[in-house]
Amino acid sequence: MEVVVLPTYAEMSKAAAQIVADVLNTKPNAVLGMATGSTPLGLYQELVRMHREEGLDFTQVTTFNLDEYVGLRPNHSQSYHYFMQENFFKHVNMAAGNIYIPSGTTSNYRSFCEWYERRIQECGGIDVQILGIGSDGHIAFNEPGSSLSSRTRLKTLAQSTIEDNARFFERKEDVPIYAITMGVGTILEARTLVLCASGQNKAAAVAAMVEGPVTSMNTASALQLHPEARVFLDESAAGHLKMREYYDWVKKMKPGAPKV
Ligand code: PGA
Repeated sequence: MEVVVLPTYAEMSKAAAQIVADVLNTKPNAVLGMATGSTPLGLYQELVRMHREEGLDFTQVTTFNLDEYVGLRPNHSQSYHYFMQENFFKHVNMAAGNIYIPSGTTSNYRSFCEWYERRIQECGGIDVQILGIGSDGHIAFNEPGSSLSSRTRLKTLAQSTIEDNARFFERKEDVPIYAITMGVGTILEARTLVLCASGQNKAAAVAAMVEGPVTSMNTASALQLHPEARVFLDESAAGHLKMREYYDWVKKMKPGAPKV
């Protein structure tokens, strides 16, 4: 796992966006795994800037989102369909037919989830998966206790997640209780993982992910099993890391390392 700490949220977002841009520059028809939430907003803004100012092209790109709330229609202002449209898709040149987001309103969740997994495979698998982390250590909506080999499925949200996400809804009662989410096993199959975390309220979960045991109690810790996991943090999210000096040393020495 590569751990890169940057002084600010903006610098963290730029560094993570550069990984995605590098993939697109070598593979214009790459498959991207997309995340929602406050954290990836800066990363999306940077990709949009690169699209406008540097011609970063999305015409051949396919995207798969990690998750969606059950019960919210795509035009609901808190649905992840709406989030993606407003914060990313409408600002770049993606083909609408190449966008996949789990359905929050299907009549058959089991068969939808099976189809979603199949579609990822048929599109060649995910090249780079963008991730955030919950204050309970979740990736996507894989709450504590989720199997580390889980696949796309219906999941009951943890109370702490409902409380964390209540800030986006008028009332806490309005936060959906269920979600469709890619599984930890699905996420681990992506070729590269890029996880961003910002803010002090993530510091404990981040330390457990990077330096704790691999455990379903912090599903982000499964990144330790992935050969290309890259973690980008701002100062406050890195606040509880014990090996901080080593991560900074590796970052400093990286430019001089033999090319592989
Ligand atoms: P946030 O959510 O980016 O809104 O903090 C992250 C997550 O729950 O995965």
